Amino acid sequence: MILRTVHIFLLMCLLWQSGVLCGPSVTYSSTRVCGLKGASVVLPCTYYYPRGHFYWGEWYEERSRRVRGHSNSRYPDCSLNIDNLSYDHSGVYHFRFYTSLHRSWITRISGIRLSVTDVQLKVDPTTATEGERVTLTCSTVCTLSENPTFIWFRNRQRIKNQQSSTGNKLHLNPVSSEDAGSYSCAVQGHGNLPSSAAALSVRYAPKDMSVSVGPSGEIVEGDSVTLICNSDANPPVHNYTWYRRSGDKTAQVATGLKYSITNTSTAHRGHYYCEARNDIGVKSTDVTLLNIRYSPKSISVSASLSGDLSEGTTVTLTCSSDANPPVHNHTWYMKSGAEALIRGTGESISFNVTSDTSGLYYCEAKNEIGSQNSTEVQILLAGNQDSSMVLAAEVILIVILIPILILLGLLWLRIRKKRHPSGSGTRTQQEDTESDANAVNATISAVAMTAGPSQAACAAYEDVHYASIQFSGSKGREGPVYGNIRQPKPPKQREDVEYSTVKFSQPSAATQSEDKSAIYSTVNKSSRT
Ligand SMILES: *[C@@H]1O[C@H](CO)[C@@H](O)[C@H](O)[C@H]1NC(C)=O
Ligand SMILES: *[C@@H]1O[C@H](CO)[C@@H](O)[C@H](O)[C@H]1NC(C)=O
Ligand SMILES: *[C@@H]1O[C@H](CO)[C@@H](O)[C@H](O)[C@H]1NC(C)=O
Ligand SMILES: *[C@@H]1O[C@H](CO)[C@@H](O)[C@H](O)[C@H]1NC(C)=O
Ligand SMILES: *[C@@H]1O[C@H](CO)[C@@H](O)[C@H](O)[C@H]1NC(C)=O
Ligand SMILES: *[C@@H]1O[C@H](CO)[C@@H](O)[C@H](O)[C@H]1NC(C)=O
Repeated sequence: MILRTVHIFLLMCLLWQSGVLCGPSVTYSSTRVCGLKGASVVLPCTYYYPRGHFYWGEWYEERSRRVRGHSNSRYPDCSLNIDNLSYDHSGVYHFRFYTSLHRSWITRISGIRLSVTDVQLKVDPTTATEGERVTLTCSTVCTLSENPTFIWFRNRQRIKNQQSSTGNKLHLNPVSSEDAGSYSCAVQGHGNLPSSAAALSVRYAPKDMSVSVGPSGEIVEGDSVTLICNSDANPPVHNYTWYRRSGDKTAQVATGLKYSITNTSTAHRGHYYCEARNDIGVKSTDVTLLNIRYSPKSISVSASLSGDLSEGTTVTLTCSSDANPPVHNHTWYMKSGAEALIRGTGESISFNVTSDTSGLYYCEAKNEIGSQNSTEVQILLAGNQDSSMVLAAEVILIVILIPILILLGLLWLRIRKKRHPSGSGTRTQQEDTESDANAVNATISAVAMTAGPSQAACAAYEDVHYASIQFSGSKGREGPVYGNIRQPKPPKQREDVEYSTVKFSQPSAATQSEDKSAIYSTVNKSSRT
């Protein structure tokens, strides 16, 4: 029974092949075809017709009824190739043919449904904050027959590491700022037909921060300088804050992208950094040292003596200054008359006092930026000639002056008390004059008491104004006439004070330093009229 059936089947097929029994026919091996836009597609088809009969075959699209092509394949293949697919190609396709035997179109009622799709990319979310998860999905409208693999591009560059890709999805988890960009995807083998691009924006706190200083190079006091806070941030930074760290202290100095300092000074020296803030977060730069260089300033000379102020004493003068970079050359000058003689180099000089070393000393301090001279310090040797010069240094003056002023003050108070024991009533000018006169007497006697004839050494001072006490006669007055004496002033107000120098001659070796304190008095040189 089975054998008979097979025989009949074989016979039928032979007849069908010849077109006698089965007649002409069209067969599609697939009735749904999904094609990629821009790619080519094949609509699979075979057909049969009785041998020897003339035929004419064509493809048409059902809805538009338009002939869409002819099969170029060899009989019995009637497959249709469509290149460069576009959406226009979508539709239901039928193959039909005409034979001289049947004299009518032979086709199938059902055709092949051709769908055209492109590749579509979806980014979710399109704006993410660093650390969040982003998923990219690549899809087609119809299912491509070849079960495609998808490939991914960022900024037109193929993403090499696709480990995070599963099926038609690419996971960015966690997303980083480097992931931001323009993405597209494509079906493998059709990399030339990518999806349209989709942007991924990643928000992140400021990073890659630095401070740039302009102009570059060394900054010298007085220069203008601008600090710029460089950062990378999304969304953009909305607050820049500048800080200066100096020692342990940190202080806010400015806000804004740029911090400009015009006319820099040493006070601007320090470590600076900026802080940038956006909606996501805040970050600071490392510190940048703003090293303001300046020429020497605040130059002072200090003196030290090996012993008493006399010939042969060793004097050491030291020059100190504030400079950046530090002073590298010190030059010592001695002014003697109009000319300035170089007396040495180095931070300190030492010399033994002789008559040749008397003069005004000062030092010149020099660094890469400039130089500056100190104030002058007078070194005087008490001469044994007519001038009876005194050897001095500023340091000693202060030691001497203060006890004198105290002594004078005490004397003054004592005299006042004596004249006005009850402190009552008004004083007349005459009384004032008399009391002042007593002060002079007291002062002079005090000098006489403490400064014996053997005393030779005395301190002089660079700013000192010398005046001799003048006792001028005033008409209409009776009795002795004296100069007026002012209240002793503190040493700082030197400009108001005039000193009288009590001169001593014949220096002797028996100099006693404690006696030096007796040689000044404070006197106003003018007299009343
Ligand atoms: C493919 O078709 C499009 C229009 O649909 C046309 O612009 C393009 O030039 C075609 N490409 C090729 C290679 O024929
Ligand atoms: C940041 O700037 C805004 C205005 O631009 C201001 O209101 C806010 O106080 C600033 N925040 C800080 C921390 O400086
Ligand atoms: C710069 O500052 C110094 C003091 O710091 C001042 O003496 C000088 O006049 C200033 N110069 C200008 C151009 O402002
Ligand atoms: C400054 O000192 C350096 C060495 O410390 C010396 O070579 C240079 O000649 C000095 N310059 C002057 C102007 O004294
Ligand atoms: C200064 O005097 C001392 C002795 O008091 C002596 O040893 C030294 O060599 C002298 N210095 C100079 C530079 O003459
Ligand atoms: C310091 O004094 C020397 C000698 O008098 C002079 O040549 C120099 O110019 C002075 N320097 C300054 C900065 O005044």
